[in-house]
Amino acid sequence: MTPLPYQDSSLPIPDRVADLLSHMSVEEKVGQMLQLDARDDIGDHVLRRHVGSILHTSPERIVQANRLTSQTRLRIPLLVGEDCIHGHSFWPGATIYPTQLGMAATWDASLVEQVARATAVEVAATGIHWTFSPVLCIARDLRWGRVNETFGEDPVLIGELASAMVRGYQGSGLADPTAILATAKHFAGYSETQGGRDASEADISRRKLRSWFLPPFERVAREGCRTFMLGYQTTDGVPITVNDWLLSDVLRGEWGYTGTLITDWDNVGRMVWEQRVQPDFAHAAAAAVKAGNDMVMTTPQFFEGALEAVSRGMLDSSDFDAAVARILTLKFELGLFENPRLPEAGVAEIVGGRAHADLNLQVARRSLVLLENDGTLPVSPASPDGPVAAGAVRRLAVVGPLADDAQEQLGDWAGGSGQAGWLDGQPREMITTVLDGLRAIAPWEVVHARGADILNLEPDPAGATWPDGQPRPPVVRPIPADDAQIAEAITAAQRADAVVAVVGDARGLYGEGRSTATLELIGGQAELLDAVIATGTPVIVVLMASKPLVLPASVRDAAAVIWVANPGMKGGLAIAELITGAIEPAGRLPISFARHAGQQPTYYNQIRGQHGDRYADLTQAPAWAFGQGLSYTTVSYSDLVLESSSLTADAVIRASVTLTNTGDRPAIETVQVYVRDEVTSASWADRELKTYRQVRVEPGDSVRVALEVPVADCTIVDARGARVVEPGAFALLVGPSSREEDLLSAEFTVA
Ligand code: NOJ
Repeated sequence: MTPLPYQDSSLPIPDRVADLLSHMSVEEKVGQMLQLDARDDIGDHVLRRHVGSILHTSPERIVQANRLTSQTRLRIPLLVGEDCIHGHSFWPGATIYPTQLGMAATWDASLVEQVARATAVEVAATGIHWTFSPVLCIARDLRWGRVNETFGEDPVLIGELASAMVRGYQGSGLADPTAILATAKHFAGYSETQGGRDASEADISRRKLRSWFLPPFERVAREGCRTFMLGYQTTDGVPITVNDWLLSDVLRGEWGYTGTLITDWDNVGRMVWEQRVQPDFAHAAAAAVKAGNDMVMTTPQFFEGALEAVSRGMLDSSDFDAAVARILTLKFELGLFENPRLPEAGVAEIVGGRAHADLNLQVARRSLVLLENDGTLPVSPASPDGPVAAGAVRRLAVVGPLADDAQEQLGDWAGGSGQAGWLDGQPREMITTVLDGLRAIAPWEVVHARGADILNLEPDPAGATWPDGQPRPPVVRPIPADDAQIAEAITAAQRADAVVAVVGDARGLYGEGRSTATLELIGGQAELLDAVIATGTPVIVVLMASKPLVLPASVRDAAAVIWVANPGMKGGLAIAELITGAIEPAGRLPISFARHAGQQPTYYNQIRGQHGDRYADLTQAPAWAFGQGLSYTTVSYSDLVLESSSLTADAVIRASVTLTNTGDRPAIETVQVYVRDEVTSASWADRELKTYRQVRVEPGDSVRVALEVPVADCTIVDARGARVVEPGAFALLVGPSSREEDLLSAEFTVA
């Protein structure tokens, strides 16, 4: 049989797409727009519903699905998607890196790009073409369960790191066999929850969206991120799935985005059964198609609904063409018609290899944030048998429920986090816990006492599933402190020269639909800290927490506090290296830490203007602010000088500042540059990060660091919603964190 034009790889892609579209029935077009769960009946998906894509699949299912597509009339290959969020999340033996929030603490776009590239290499080898990553949501309410998936609270940092991640995933272009499609999600405003409750109505104006929530998305849209995923939220009564203003006017119109839009999980169905803004699936499908969605994730009823909409005259069969053309274009660009990119034979050598473990360690090292240190850190380990230098640690007590819990260390979207039922965790031997790391690093005597438990999970009394059949998350029951466990930890602490206490949160306390009402440590953890700190032995608190938590008051008397997010497989080794001073602390907070859940929100770039600046019973100041993080040395900032202080709108602000390392260890300093617009036509944040530079400063050295910010970046969004530079007085603020007291200031004017 003569091949049809779309089967001819020498023809231009638009011609192939047009030809293939001309052969497709309306059923085939509707099916092409569907992405269904590969764990369900894959034969039905492919042969009856003509699906264009599957997700949550195993290699066997990919091969099986491919066999099925080869039996179909047009033999259109499938796009295979998966949540590869910080590594190839659900692949046994894949490399799992720090969570996105952990990676954000590195502030290092090049490292983040390398992680995404390495992940793409592993993912592509397993027959998956598309990852639903990165997350560009701004984390504002710390109670939200998905804070760990974000790059934190600042739009510039988010844009910088998201752009790097997209570059890493997509490699040198889709023809590259190791390239995978990146997804910017969740478009847009999903994280603006009410009370932290996941997927609640996002009470957000268009101006607020344009001010902070949209800029990271605009950046990656313009830079060629090939797919965007919508969130779950409604705004002003309109589900994002049918938000014409955001999807058509802004994304496709203003930004000229030509990529592919995918809904989130059952968004089309949710309009019927959850939000109840559509009477049935025919209406919901028609509305979703008209709003410009390309791929519909896991609403099987979209198939019947869309066909019914056609038969009832609500849709025309040509209404699917634009979406189908975009999906087919991706498939042609990936070359799937010629090579469906099935799981590779040599996958075992590619996935979880040595080089990726090394990268894992490198990024984990840079992700650790030293928040407090009374000088105890770094500790010098000593052998219990050998001669002991003053202050050296011979015996170390390691306590806390997270000191040696390999799967908890990996956090959400990893082997054991529950989204993929086929995996119970990642291989233990690939994971270095804090206890493993401390034992491996020196010949000191390490004594371990768990000291406390965190939680049990119980079925939700409301029932096992949601109305759409999806499992309801279990309910958390904290495990109360146990006297015997605590007594054991106290004894270990009393006999030791120093204590490392690893506490934090655990699966069940974060993730989709798992927001928390409180931010405190739960289970017996606070009591454990109180007890070991009261022994008087110096306690190094390692807060292994998916998101900022509130520590008990006793921590004021701890020797040191380190926040490690979920640091990935090699995290425990990196932490041990930090504690012993084998590496320098370099992480900086990508998000502020509250002192109390009632302080929400605590992000640094809040809008000016309120009565007073504290609560009657508490300061409003966060416990630790965006940008903060200590080194094992001190770095002073001086002589902030502007090249010119009268600038025009098209100029670049050029400044320099001197950094002096006044201690005896090297510093990896993140020089942060904020801008304050003194008077704005509409209320605005007091200061905003505009750029930053990472600089190494050797002990005793001074370096002059050059800084540049285009005046065009000194914008606000005015009351009409336009992003503008308003002439007048500004200040350039430079320093090691977002805190006012840490920043040097230089004034300039824009004409
Ligand atoms: C729902 C989540 O919100 C989204 O982030 C994820 O990519 C999809 N499920 C697919 O698992």
